[in-house]
Amino acid sequence: MHFTKTITDDLIWVGANDRRLAMFEGVYSVPYGVSYNSYLLLDEKTVLFDTVDKAVSHRFFENVAFALDGRLLDYLVVQHMEPDHSAVLDELLLRYPDVKVVCNTKIQTMIKQFFDLDIDAHIVAEGDTLNTGKHNLNFVMAPMVHWPEVMVTYDSTDKILFSADGFGTFGALNGAIFADEVDFNADYMNEARRYYTNIVGKYGAQVQALLKKASTLEIEMICPLHGFVWRKNLTDIISKYVLWSTYQPEEEGVMIAYASVYGNTENAAEILSGMLRNKGIKTVMFDVSVTPASEVISAAFKWSHLVFASTTYNAGIFVTMEALIDDLVAHNIQNRTVAVIENGSWAATSGGLIRGKLEKCKNINILEQGVSIKSGLKPTQITELEAITDAIAADFPHLETGNSPAIINTDANQTGKVASIDPGAMFKLSYGLFVLTAKDGDKDNGCIINTAIQITAKPLRLSIAVIKANFTHDMIIKTGEFNISILSTSAPFKVFEQFGFHSGRDTDKFADCTHDDRLANGIRYIPKFTNSVISAKVVDSYDYGTHTLFIADITESIVLSNEPSVTYQYYFDNIKPKPQPKAELKKGFVCKICGYIYEGDVLPEDFICPICKHGAIDFEPIV
Ligand code: FEO
Repeated sequence: MHFTKTITDDLIWVGANDRRLAMFEGVYSVPYGVSYNSYLLLDEKTVLFDTVDKAVSHRFFENVAFALDGRLLDYLVVQHMEPDHSAVLDELLLRYPDVKVVCNTKIQTMIKQFFDLDIDAHIVAEGDTLNTGKHNLNFVMAPMVHWPEVMVTYDSTDKILFSADGFGTFGALNGAIFADEVDFNADYMNEARRYYTNIVGKYGAQVQALLKKASTLEIEMICPLHGFVWRKNLTDIISKYVLWSTYQPEEEGVMIAYASVYGNTENAAEILSGMLRNKGIKTVMFDVSVTPASEVISAAFKWSHLVFASTTYNAGIFVTMEALIDDLVAHNIQNRTVAVIENGSWAATSGGLIRGKLEKCKNINILEQGVSIKSGLKPTQITELEAITDAIAADFPHLETGNSPAIINTDANQTGKVASIDPGAMFKLSYGLFVLTAKDGDKDNGCIINTAIQITAKPLRLSIAVIKANFTHDMIIKTGEFNISILSTSAPFKVFEQFGFHSGRDTDKFADCTHDDRLANGIRYIPKFTNSVISAKVVDSYDYGTHTLFIADITESIVLSNEPSVTYQYYFDNIKPKPQPKAELKKGFVCKICGYIYEGDVLPEDFICPICKHGAIDFEPIV
């Protein structure tokens, strides 16, 4: 009996799930199964995107026949020749002899290699388009994501990216088809990370190249060959791909992987983990002889700091640890701080050998602090574990308490000259302009700010100053989290009106939004007219009268486009509507930010613009 799922009015999932497979690709355990996705487009022409693994071919052919409902199959788009998606290609050609295969030349070569078939394919190259009636399919080459022949397809009519292995995940679909039907972050993100890091983790540069191409497309849905279809919150997965493909950690903390024959190396690892926890640093631990390597690889991509503790075996690294280290090097692990613990009852060599292997990786900081155990850890060696702990903790200064900003002596008149303040100088600062968004319960809100500044790189941290009168300010005080959408030069004045000229206390600023775009923290962001978005969690706040200065750790950041950022100057020169002719102006003061006019001879010093909430300092007399 067929089992299909409807994706859109004319797109049907005709894939199948496999929960009996023990090892995907013969090496990766899949305890939650795996899905092989295939999609059928029912346009004037019918188009099948890829096939499936042989293990699920029966269900697949039932599904295709049911979805076609008697129609002929016109096209088979082959995006990837790995047999989990192409094993039944020959049988499909037998069942549907009139189908035209659409592929690139490398795929055509592989079809010959796998099936010894000379087919008269419709060959496509980068940028080629196939019209199927209502739909236009654009072909984008994606070499090494995950094999050299891979291409993806963009349906510009419905804005769907058929992404081949990209954005896939381990795990059967269990009746759902869309990622938003399940609690993806809680239940599937680990499997998505394990899939990505193990399958394409080595090819970060190539994934980056594909992400760059994808950033030029307006994508509303992603249909991968494994796992769920993404129709909402696409940035949940795209932002992870940005981190994974650039080998940036997702979380601050320490992954401790150990190989221990009789428990003595494990003991040292355990004590170190306890010391790190005492400092408030998150830790995860794996016995590499027990936990599958694919899980440890995945965790190594997640955490910022790595500790490897291994006994010496046959004058080398213990076998399971050696396999793990080689696997990590093969997967191109980068940008991590590493500490090493070795054990050896007569000639400890494992530490030096682990260091030697990891030194070949890019931007791996191997701490000089380490421990060499002779059989069992001695009380005198506790200081060596403490030294590792302190060296790692130095990368987490925000965990120390009592940090407060320095008090700067502003005794500015030492030269005897009269100092004056021209507010205009403030406008010469090269501010950007940003939509600051927050969420409190079901309430979303946002406002315009110009005060987002990165203050440190390690940890990645920024500051924002927010006017207390803004509702968004109160929400951040309460929740401690926010997003910043960096406005680009394409932003029209209506964006500034929407977020800058009303109060969220009595207005739903997102009322007209047709999409519910949120980052991992659940807070909305602005996907259009912006070039990047940043999530942050407040670690400190300072009361400066009219404003609160928030210091926050960056928890997520995504580049959305290459458009230049809006500067304050650009806004005034190109976006803000020009002032009315003088004859129409009233007597009073005009807000330089939003144009609001205060009528009267004297502007009160504590006046706050009722529209944009800026103070009297941002008003100028109408002349
Ligand atoms: Fe899912 Fe690279 O095959």
